[in-house]
Amino acid sequence: MARLGIDFGTTNTVAVIHDRGVFSVVLHRADTGAGTVVQDVFPSAILIDRLSGEQWFGLEADRLFGQRGPGPHHVFLPSLKRHLWGYAEGHSIASGHEARARGCEAAAALEQFDIARLLTGFLQSLADSIRASGMIDPAEPLETVITWPANANGAQRYITRKCFREAGFDVRSTLNEPTASAIELADCITAGRGVRKDDREPSAVAVFDLGGGTFDASVVWIEGDEFEVLASGGIEDLGGDDFDRTLLDMFLERFKLSDEALSPLTRHALLRQARSQKETIAGGVVRSLFLNPLDFGLDCSPVSIPVDAYFERIIPMLKPAIATLRKVILSAAAREPRVRTGPELTVYLVGGSAKLPLVARMVSDAFPNCRVILTDKPFTSVAMGAAICATDRVTYRDVFARHFGLLRLKDNGQSEVFDIIFPAGTPIPRRGESPLERCAWYHPRHNIGHLRYLECTSVGVNGLPDGNVRHWSDVFFPYDPVLPMDHRVSAEDVVPTDRFADMPACEVYRCDSDGVITVELRRPTRNDSRVHEIYRD
Ligand SMILES: Nc1ncnc2c1ncn2[C@@H]1O[C@H](COP(=O)(O)OP(=O)(O)OP(=O)(O)O)[C@@H](O)[C@H]1O
Ligand SMILES: [Mg+2]
Repeated sequence: MARLGIDFGTTNTVAVIHDRGVFSVVLHRADTGAGTVVQDVFPSAILIDRLSGEQWFGLEADRLFGQRGPGPHHVFLPSLKRHLWGYAEGHSIASGHEARARGCEAAAALEQFDIARLLTGFLQSLADSIRASGMIDPAEPLETVITWPANANGAQRYITRKCFREAGFDVRSTLNEPTASAIELADCITAGRGVRKDDREPSAVAVFDLGGGTFDASVVWIEGDEFEVLASGGIEDLGGDDFDRTLLDMFLERFKLSDEALSPLTRHALLRQARSQKETIAGGVVRSLFLNPLDFGLDCSPVSIPVDAYFERIIPMLKPAIATLRKVILSAAAREPRVRTGPELTVYLVGGSAKLPLVARMVSDAFPNCRVILTDKPFTSVAMGAAICATDRVTYRDVFARHFGLLRLKDNGQSEVFDIIFPAGTPIPRRGESPLERCAWYHPRHNIGHLRYLECTSVGVNGLPDGNVRHWSDVFFPYDPVLPMDHRVSAEDVVPTDRFADMPACEVYRCDSDGVITVELRRPTRNDSRVHEIYRD
């Protein structure tokens, strides 16, 4: 039976199929006026006609946009995954303000669209394309292992898994993108050297995954067929899209043009040009990046920007990624003393943006004693690792990349404290293992429980969340045993009282093997309970 590994990336979605011992990257096709295009990546893009409601996905969307550009009613969303950040704050595409701040006018125009519905539509189109490739029997279920950024927040994980299922994929399990790459590397080394997995020395791989929209770092400990993530971290808004924007900004500075002066269509076209100029650097011969504004209807003289000047602008953007990798390696070493920054530690560079020569240079300079390997599969490594997992050849365990918890009141409601339920680094259960469980008792200081969930990467000296804070859903329920658990209450109904202080409520948190968290709220005095999936509802 065929099984799939799928990497839903910011720029590219890649599917690898395993059938009768052979791993193959799925090829996608689209017919253009000038012939058929076949490629091994399915662009993570959507084109929408706001008047007719018609939508095109993946290769079709990319091709149509490339050929015609959007008409006056068209919106092109090239990096769908980036909009999942906003999911924890609501169902729709990131708010107009936030979207504009990130320079995505398309998203600003799309506030009315439901991100989950768009994602499901995109994934259905991906499923159709996989079936149309002829690489899988049409009647077979799409048994799939999916991946997500190590740094993905819980709501992103929840919505991604849900949309894959609704699109018709049979999601067998999930894993973090860098873990998948470590598995692909280990499999490749083992196969290349003809080493049996059991004979391989235990070792650590630090994965540095710089793609189109996110940066992920993980240290994975490998012992035979067992892969254990020791530590993970990342930057959710650093990737090739940002490097494209930086180059466009540099061109615009030279043209003395402001971003606002461009129409969305021209801006998109210029961004595409910036991206293809950026991608030429990897060849090693290009010394300057060129743009002729006349090709885009702009009345300015052509400019060229030296690659070195471009790199100067990117270096400060890459420094936090290097610092994150260092921090992740330190956390891994604290858990497993055999992890040391020496020749025994391999740093594996994956993701399309790792092709920028500056990346390998900066990583090698930062970790001079480690073995730095630049992948030969920048786009397919993650999906390949996921496909290897889909065959059940390996076992793996991930960890929480961030602290998960809730804000509680202390000092009789005078101040707040962040109560960490699952600290960063907590191992997530393996598939088939029972959920991780934590129980918390709480003596009410109000009539209503208002549980404010969030995730963050660090905690400040004041005990409050600090760094990369992501709010999850708020959950309300009455402490008053007279009222049923599902009695509708809201923030306005909350009043301080000690009436229920001697009727402690119990919160039981469970985390499944995909890192999806639920809370069961129990009121022992009334012997009732209610279960919530913790995500924005
Ligand atoms: N030769 C190259 N030099 C520099 N960057 C490149 C090159 N080729 C591709 N890229 C960049 O790689 C990025 C896409 O990489 P990749 O497919 O790994 O990302 P993704 O998996 O879709 O995104 P993410 O992992 O962040 O969700 C794009 O920004 C693209 O411009
Ligand atoms: Mg990726």
